[in-house]
Amino acid sequence: MSEASVERHANARIQDLRERKARARLGGGEERIEAQHKRGKLTARERIDLLLDKGSFREIDTFVVHRTHDFGLDRQKYPSDSVVTGWGTIEGRLVYVFSQDFTVFGGSLGEVHAEKVVKILDMAMKNGAPVIGINDSGGARIQEGVVSLGGYADIFLRNTLASGVIPQISAIMGPCAGGAVYSPALTDFIFMVRNSSYMFVTGPDVVKAVTHEEVTQEELGGASVHSEKSGVCHVAADSEADTLYLIRKLISYIPQNNMEDPPYVNTGDDPLRMDESLDTIIPDDAVKPYDMKEVIRRIVDNGEFFEIHENYAMNVVVGFARLGGHSVGIIANQPAVLAGVLDIDASEKAARFIRFCDAFNIPIVTFEDVPGFLPGTVQEHGGIIRSGAKLLYAYCEATVPKLTVITRKAYGGAYCVMSSKHIRGDVNFAWPTAEIAVMGPDGAVSIVFRRELEKAEDPAARKNELVNEYREKFANPYVAAERGYIDDVIEPRETRPRLINALEMLQNKRDSNPAKKHGNIPL
Ligand code: HXC
Repeated sequence: MSEASVERHANARIQDLRERKARARLGGGEERIEAQHKRGKLTARERIDLLLDKGSFREIDTFVVHRTHDFGLDRQKYPSDSVVTGWGTIEGRLVYVFSQDFTVFGGSLGEVHAEKVVKILDMAMKNGAPVIGINDSGGARIQEGVVSLGGYADIFLRNTLASGVIPQISAIMGPCAGGAVYSPALTDFIFMVRNSSYMFVTGPDVVKAVTHEEVTQEELGGASVHSEKSGVCHVAADSEADTLYLIRKLISYIPQNNMEDPPYVNTGDDPLRMDESLDTIIPDDAVKPYDMKEVIRRIVDNGEFFEIHENYAMNVVVGFARLGGHSVGIIANQPAVLAGVLDIDASEKAARFIRFCDAFNIPIVTFEDVPGFLPGTVQEHGGIIRSGAKLLYAYCEATVPKLTVITRKAYGGAYCVMSSKHIRGDVNFAWPTAEIAVMGPDGAVSIVFRRELEKAEDPAARKNELVNEYREKFANPYVAAERGYIDDVIEPRETRPRLINALEMLQNKRDSNPAKKHGNIPL
């Protein structure tokens, strides 16, 4: 063959390759892409492009097609099948991605779809980088039967084995129903798009048949339900673009895997910056609320706080921030909601967040103002004992640096739970406004002096006297500080520099738990 014909041949092959790739990029075809856009949804590849650094995506398994013959499927083959997979970068850091393509068989998961996802999860594990899964799927591919179910189970196993080794993040951008919800549920964070995504184990039709309830998809499993009521969703956003942007933001706070520290970022905020307004942020009246998020914002770098579960169990606040450029996980009681009391949902929310931070070497900073656990039959019958134990377990088990600031109340069991010195809190500060005691002055006096008050000439006046006496004696940080249960009582304004200093002091902290197969957290 002449040189010219070799070149022509090569060019034809390259042209053929280009055409094949272009065909694959069309997924289920232009009509279906248009239908996807009409619903205000992006395609699988468009989502990846928004998620990753520009031009960084490297797709693999583009030419994979399904192997099914039944139900006429042999006449419908789409290169890539119904999921797009590969890797790329976010702010220059490697991440693996799979993005379900609704334009191909409704993003349904059959044998090769599962194989592609499994390949990505295995690569991410081997190479120690986060996986982001974008879910938009009609679930198990009906035509492939049990093979689809097996494919899901292959993924569940990998999600579980990867848990605590690499961060796993799920974005729900369409339907996610049936057993399919369990892959996202096994991952660390679930993001949902308001009004266009939903998750449920059984859809509205089955619900109606079984319970006679009439409910829409949105009411049953939309982003609002899962980010406010069930707590299944960690972050809800108004659009797909916002959701993907927030995932990028989350990635900036976390390490690539459990063997790495989280990334340090020079935020430009002075580590020695003090904030005088903190000195007066606690109201004089001990039952008056204030916004703990305001406290957090005044202390962390540039006031930036990436909140997780913002609208769920709002009596506790959790999220990521930076202190002197170091990534930290913040857990804070919120006196502005239910007086910051700990209930079932708040305990579980905080416990899960603590365990993520601990698994991924992110120091934990606790801001404490808690009157105790919520009393009542609803809570007791719902298992507050078990849920509270989860929080206790998570704090006890955590070996990352643990810093605590008691701003006001630290009463009863909640004092012990919220990262106290006794459960390996590394540096525990209290503000002068702290009240560390078995219970609040009012309750304590009513119990301890019941008989005396019954006999008193003027019970109200006597009670007042005793409450003041109790407050002076116990409702302050100094009894705890005398015993070393508090490392220092600090001026609120100096909280930021003191926390940053403590974090730096703890930079090389080493602590471990006894060797075991695994613990038995009270699930
Ligand atoms: C194969 C599917 C499919 C599925 C949708 N499609 N779901 N193909 N298997 N599970 C196809 C449709 O045939 C259609 O193909 C295209 O995807 C788009 O679907 P539409 O119905 O036209 O779209 P829409 O009206 O938006 O409805 C989307 C939907 C609906 C709500 C997801 O398709 C639906 O209810 N699908 C079935 C969902 C389901 O019951 N899945 C099984 C769940 S159980 P064409 O060619 O027309 O474009 C499960 C078990 C997992 O997943 C177990 C794990 C352990």
